[in-house]
Amino acid sequence: MAIRHFLQFKDLSRDELDYLFERTRWIKRQFKSYQQYWPLSDRTLVMIFEKASTRTRLSFEAGMQQLGGSAIYLNTRDSQLGRGEPVEDAAQVISRMSDLVMIRTFEQEIIERFAANSRVPVINGLTNEYHPCQILADIFTFIEHRGPIQGKTVAWIGDSNNVCNTLLQAAEVLDFNVHVSTPPGYEVEPERAGLYGHAHYEEFADPMEAARGADLVTTDVWTSMGFEAENEERMRDFADWQVDADMMKIAGKDAVFMHCLPAHRGEEVAAEVIDGPQSVVWDEAENRLHTQKALMEYLLLGKVE
Ligand code: CP
Ligand code: NVA
Repeated sequence: MAIRHFLQFKDLSRDELDYLFERTRWIKRQFKSYQQYWPLSDRTLVMIFEKASTRTRLSFEAGMQQLGGSAIYLNTRDSQLGRGEPVEDAAQVISRMSDLVMIRTFEQEIIERFAANSRVPVINGLTNEYHPCQILADIFTFIEHRGPIQGKTVAWIGDSNNVCNTLLQAAEVLDFNVHVSTPPGYEVEPERAGLYGHAHYEEFADPMEAARGADLVTTDVWTSMGFEAENEERMRDFADWQVDADMMKIAGKDAVFMHCLPAHRGEEVAAEVIDGPQSVVWDEAENRLHTQKALMEYLLLGKVE
C-alpha cells in the first residue's frame, strides 16, 4: 500500500471515513470488554509536540500501547527540533527509526514538508490551520449519540480557527451543514480552511441565529495556542460569542453540545452548558482514543475486514 498521511480531514474519503467509524465501534467495544487486541505489536509511533497537549498525547500514547505497539514522545525543548535542524532532515531520520509519526506544530506547511520527506505515514495532531483527529472523534461522538450526521446542521460559535476549518472540511466530505458565527474580523478564510466551495456552510452575524435549530452546537477557546499575544483584544472581541443556556434553548430540541477542550467556563461556554445535560464533552474526549486507534491501524495495515 502507498504511504497515506492524515494531514487534513479531506485526506480521507467518505468511504474510508465510514470504514473508520465502523472500525472504531469495534475497537472501542473490544477495549471496553477488556479484550486484548495487538495488531501493531513491534510498531513504533513517534509523537512530536511543538505545542502543549493533554488529550492528544495521552490518546496517541495510550492508544498505541493498547494496540501492542510503543510510542516515543519528542518535544522541541529537549530535542534538536528546537535548535534549528531542518524539518526535512528530521523527517528522514525519524521515519527511518519508526513506523508512524504524529506531529503537533505551528504552520501546516511544516507538517507538509515533514510528510514529503517521510518514509512512514504522518498524522496531524494539530496545526494552526487544522485539527483533523479532533473532528474525527467529534463526528464519531455525534453518530454514537444521534446517528448519521449527513444532512444535519452544526453551529460553530466563536473563532474560525483550526478546529472550525476542519469541521468545514468534514462538512464537505460527509455532506452536512455548518452555521458559523464569528465576531467581525475573525471570519472563515475559505482558502486557508482548504474548502472546495461555499455549499456546506453559511455565516451568521448573530450567534443566536447560527444556533437556531442546530443538531450540534460547538465552540472552542477564543485564543488558540500560538495566538497568545492577541489574548486581551480577543477577550473584548469575543465577549458576545459565548454558548450559554439561552443559545442551547434556541438550538434543536435534541441538540448536543461539544467542545474539543481545554475549555474556559465563563468565556466561550457557560458552566451550565458544558456541565449540563446536553453536553457530551467527556465522551468526545474519550473518543479521541478509539478513533485514533482505528486511524493508526488503517494507516499501517489498511482495511483489516
Ligand atoms: N483537544 C485537544 O487536542 O486537547 P489537547 O490540547 O489536550 O491535546
Ligand atoms: N484551537 C485550539 C485547540 C486546542 C486543542 C488551539 O489550537 O489551541
